[in-house]
Amino acid sequence: MQLPAVSLLLLAAALSASARAPETQKCEGNFNIKNDDDFAKIIPCSEIKGKVFIDHTKLTEADLPNLQTLDGCIKVISNAELETLALPRITTITGVVEISNNPQLSTIDFNGLQVLGKSLTLTANPSVSSPNFPELSSVGENVLVAGETKATNFNYLPALQWVGKTMDIRGPFDTISLNSTLKAKNMVLVSSSKLGCVEITKNWTPMVEDKLKCFEKADKAHLAAGSKLPNGAITFQASPGVIAASVMLVAYLAL
Ligand SMILES: *[C@@H]1O[C@H](CO)[C@@H](O)[C@H](O)[C@H]1NC(C)=O
Repeated sequence: MQLPAVSLLLLAAALSASARAPETQKCEGNFNIKNDDDFAKIIPCSEIKGKVFIDHTKLTEADLPNLQTLDGCIKVISNAELETLALPRITTITGVVEISNNPQLSTIDFNGLQVLGKSLTLTANPSVSSPNFPELSSVGENVLVAGETKATNFNYLPALQWVGKTMDIRGPFDTISLNSTLKAKNMVLVSSSKLGCVEITKNWTPMVEDKLKCFEKADKAHLAAGSKLPNGAITFQASPGVIAASVMLVAYLAL
């Protein structure tokens, strides 16, 4: 009874394996993508050494299904019609990832990315509700998030364990969930939701080496990427128990 089903599965597996692109194709250079033809040139690459810029294009979809390593950076900026950015097999990027100012972008898929050498910047992509970075465990420099106005739950970096510099996340967050083993040098949390710092960080106990600042019920000006926080922001030397205690103390003093 089981045999036909098993052999069908095997056949399906064999067919999909033979349909796959060649396992490795190394590409080198800086790729300044302006249109579909430029983009088509990098689709076969399994490795890229260089920079990828997708900048002010009219692309609606940027899908790199073969790319596994990028020794360089990728910047996807100001693409008015871009809806999908997918690098589902990428595991390592040595440089920066910047995805900014793409008003229609609703799918950001870096499903296999584990290590990012420099910074991750996600700013002003108002149509994405849940960027996909399920495996990302290490970011060498900064994590900067702002202007993802649809992403009300910050739960899309669940495996993150190390941020070498500052993690600065700003948005309409009702909850912020981070890996309990996360270590970051500095952390800034700014939320415009009506909830306060204590509530939005309820599921959260990361370690911050230097300073953690949290600013609740923030207005537009303070939600802008990297803008200065007012004196009212709560600053504390972080250790999980102390965080909850100091937030409550400041909230009490503010009454
Ligand atoms: C925390 O991160 C580790 C490694 O990156 C991962 O294996 C684990 O599942 C994460 N925990 C949660 C609750 O996601």
